[in-house]
Amino acid sequence: MTLIEKFYPVMKPWLFRLDAEMAHTLTVKMMVIAHKLGMLKSVVTTPQQPRNVMGLTFPNALGLAAGMDKSASAVEAWGAIGFGSVEVGTLTPRPQPGNPKPRLFRLPEHEALINRMGFNNPGIHSAVKKLRHRRTKAIVGVNIGKNFDTPNEKAVDDYLICLKAAYPVADYVAVNISSPNTKGLRDLQAEGAVRELISALKKEQATLKQEHGKTVPLLVKIAPDLNDMQIEALARVFNEQNIDGVIATNTTIDRDAVTGHALAQEAGGLSGAPVRERSNLVLQAFRMLLKEQMPIIGVGGILNGADAVAKLKAGAALVQVYSGLVYRGPGLVRDVLSSI
Ligand SMILES: Cc1cc2nc3c(=O)[nH]c(=O)nc-3n(C[C@H](O)[C@H](O)[C@H](O)COP(=O)(O)O)c2cc1C
Repeated sequence: MTLIEKFYPVMKPWLFRLDAEMAHTLTVKMMVIAHKLGMLKSVVTTPQQPRNVMGLTFPNALGLAAGMDKSASAVEAWGAIGFGSVEVGTLTPRPQPGNPKPRLFRLPEHEALINRMGFNNPGIHSAVKKLRHRRTKAIVGVNIGKNFDTPNEKAVDDYLICLKAAYPVADYVAVNISSPNTKGLRDLQAEGAVRELISALKKEQATLKQEHGKTVPLLVKIAPDLNDMQIEALARVFNEQNIDGVIATNTTIDRDAVTGHALAQEAGGLSGAPVRERSNLVLQAFRMLLKEQMPIIGVGGILNGADAVAKLKAGAALVQVYSGLVYRGPGLVRDVLSSI
């Protein structure tokens, strides 16, 4: 067991006594310092199994999900603790503060979180500046969205600004149309809206490919709260537009799995163990409907190695974690990597 894995169980009770967002900010800052002091070095002791997906070589199949490092401030540290990929963001064209605090809640009895952060981020240009100097071997994805005050009719412009800015520094770009915390964002998952958005972005991707001499795959991140008809419509558009990959899923607005919990009615997206089953069903449904070569990144409710294996069996090419890292700490990385 490495130092950081030993350290987290000692730290966790202290961190859990702090407000959830404060604990998060503190942890990320400590990770950056630990990395600068060389304390995260050689943490990766599990054998690496590289995966070739979308023309990229991922050092392993485990990624850090979007939202943990919204500002791209710790990519080196995430890579050092063993992640094969890091998805930074969601980033919007202009910086924005997000929703009023408190906006992040723990439901430890369910190994779950509820968040309504609302895309608090320093803006795409700030993140891009940081990513220019990255040295990590981990694949870096840039997750993009729209500003809260951009109307949906103008959303395409926001995504285009972000795609153009991210293209030179990103290994892949993830289009987030599934956060429940930006009013109207998920309406972009409607068939007409998503077709318009994806076709504009694919067109821009082709132009940027010529300009930069490299292909940066474009993925779409979807919600778990989609009915069969919505899933079919989205899959139809993804197939027709030749999207490069799908990320399934974001957090859920459903509260059935946590009924009766004192925090169940807090507005926002629920993540962690309660979203696992629904996430896996959506993943399986997309796997059946999408073209065979179109990869899916499975995310939602991975709390241990077996959960990651289940997602890969359900058809995921790669997996990501967020809430599991809060509850299990960096030991989760070793658990997943030694199980898959
Ligand atoms: C506090 C928090 C903030 C998040 N922020 C984002 C975000 O900015 N963009 C995004 O695409 N997903 C975001 N997510 C969703 C996660 O990337 C992931 O899809 C979801 O939490 C399910 O995975 P999990 O059960 O492993 O947490 C966030 C999740 C949490 C808990």
